[in-house]
Amino acid sequence: MDVFEVITNRRSHRGEFRNTPIVDVDLEKIIEAARWAPSPFNVQPWELLIIQEEHSKIELAKLTEQAIIKQFKDKQFLEDNARWMCTSDEEWQTRGDGVLLSDHVTLPKLFQTLPKKLTGNILRALLNNISSLSILGHLGIGKMPAKEIAIQVEESPLLILVVMNTKRRPPGDGGNRWMWLSVGMFIQNMLLAASSLNIGIQFISAPLESDEDREKIRTLFNFGENHEVMTLLRLGYMNSDDVNSVRINSSEFIHYEKYMD
Ligand SMILES: Cc1cc2nc3c(=O)[nH]c(=O)nc-3n(C[C@H](O)[C@H](O)[C@H](O)COP(=O)(O)O)c2cc1C
Repeated sequence: MDVFEVITNRRSHRGEFRNTPIVDVDLEKIIEAARWAPSPFNVQPWELLIIQEEHSKIELAKLTEQAIIKQFKDKQFLEDNARWMCTSDEEWQTRGDGVLLSDHVTLPKLFQTLPKKLTGNILRALLNNISSLSILGHLGIGKMPAKEIAIQVEESPLLILVVMNTKRRPPGDGGNRWMWLSVGMFIQNMLLAASSLNIGIQFISAPLESDEDREKIRTLFNFGENHEVMTLLRLGYMNSDDVNSVRINSSEFIHYEKYMD
């Protein structure tokens, strides 16, 4: 595949992985791709923690589960979330942004038997009424999706923590911002390399959402003060091609000469 094909075919993989470990030669390629990411002054402010042992996966799965349960009770989080949730494929394709709710959580069986349009309408009504959703969260509605994602984390052939080493800060007032940009590029190189090897990657953001959880991860994996855990990735070989994705048209974000709203 040429690079353009890899870029446009890459998808976030939220499904199961094949039950086989990632072979060393493939992992080395992903790491090698990451290593060549650009950074200001070539500071290379990144580190990777490769996680293959079961007990560490279990710890991260537990943190993920607890974090998601917490999110389902958090009215503000749910409100922000609702803005980006599409309840039907049609809505998603038309909008060209956000995520499809059913890609993120397995809907209760009842929804699977209803006509798609009705399901979409019910889900939209729920999302439009976040207070009731957070009440449901307090009643435990988040437990099922939380468990589902936790199991995926635990059963992933490989987990990777991407970490920023702030001792490698470039000069200038913008140093922190440039480091963040560099780590983003580093991760994108990993995603593209993985995609070209038929390896799926999913960001698992939930356990890194709060300062408290990030602190727990720092302690769990023995990171120092100069290490900022940026993201958790789960990786594995894919069974099948990934689902679709959408983007807004470039005309919606391209401006010429001066910004025009
Ligand atoms: C910083 C960042 C955090 C993300 N966190 C999550 C996550 O926690 N769970 C998830 O399933 N996808 C996550 N994603 C993936 C996005 O949802 C995905 O890139 C977007 O919906 C577009 O889909 P695509 O990557 O398949 O094209 C994250 C992506 C980025 C860049």
